[in-house]
Amino acid sequence: MNDLAYVGSQVRSLIVQNAGGTGSEALDEILGPVASAGKMLRSGLILDIGATVGAVPSPSLLSAAAAVELLHAASLIHDDLIDGSDYRRDAPAVHVTAGEGISILSGDLLLARGMKLAHEAGPAAASAWQSAFERLTLGQLAESRLSLRSAEQDFLSYISMKTAELFAASCEMGALVLELSPSTVEQVRSFGWNFGMAFQLLDDLLDLLGDDHVLGKPVETDLPNGVFGVAAIRASTTSGAALEEALEAGQFSKAYELLRDPDVVSYCLGLLEGYVDASAHSLECALPLDNAGPLVSWTKKYFKEALEDGMRAEYRHLLPLQWGRDK
Ligand code: IPE
Ligand code: IPE
Ligand code: MG
Ligand code: MG
Repeated sequence: MNDLAYVGSQVRSLIVQNAGGTGSEALDEILGPVASAGKMLRSGLILDIGATVGAVPSPSLLSAAAAVELLHAASLIHDDLIDGSDYRRDAPAVHVTAGEGISILSGDLLLARGMKLAHEAGPAAASAWQSAFERLTLGQLAESRLSLRSAEQDFLSYISMKTAELFAASCEMGALVLELSPSTVEQVRSFGWNFGMAFQLLDDLLDLLGDDHVLGKPVETDLPNGVFGVAAIRASTTSGAALEEALEAGQFSKAYELLRDPDVVSYCLGLLEGYVDASAHSLECALPLDNAGPLVSWTKKYFKEALEDGMRAEYRHLLPLQWGRDK
């Protein structure tokens, strides 16, 4: 069995290498750490799938892993510029350190390099990468069309495009490089998609419950940016006109209080839990139970711990018992 931490460090080196060579030493020094400082979840899933089927991590698998992280890092550099977010991954955002124009070009460069690595992983993997890139961009474009009156299904489609499709493509790329059967590729992709849906619902919840120091990025930024999640539409149905009035008046603290209604939080957690269960189920269908077991357990544990660790202690009472509320 290969040491996954070691393989992960090889992926990080590949990312740093591909985030450099900008022609400016100063920019290389900014981009290398920025591109490689994330949790590496998407590439981690690719490596986990490889380990689950007992494969030795090949250069193609490493290229696929770095390719998805570069796409993800680029999307965040652009996202921070769009959202006016000043820090990310515990460091100032690229538009803050290098300026807006350079941040756009830096994201573009990471995309070009990510595309090259995706091709190195093979034509089918490159096609999955391209499709995720397209959908992520369409998802980001859809954001401004959503309002408090949009249907929950429209929010879920938006989350699917901007986040879940990249998780799905990551797992799909791993399965394609590993030459798993077409039906297994489909199930592994479904594992990634459901994981990604749960992941964005968690991230959205942490915008109202999270601790910015632990998360390494600002919280309570979605509402001021006009970005709504499931909690906001749910709260708008439970709180009558109060949420809309608070938002119109720019009273964001009040608006966030309305989102922290226990029923709203519990509703969002229920939705999230459904996707976690669906992702575990897809993995169990894809792989023999003995093999899938550790990754299934890790997935369930990941979401519980990410929520508990990421949230501010003062909001812990909002968690239902199965999510670790203090008894
Ligand atoms: C942040 O993703 C963007 C979302 C899709 C919510 P991550 O939380 O995986 O970001 P890093 O890579 O760890 O910084
Ligand atoms: C993820 O959504 C954005 C992309 C897919 C690029 P968020 O806007 O929620 O990500 P954070 O919260 O800024 O990390
Ligand atoms: Mg954002
Ligand atoms: Mg967010």
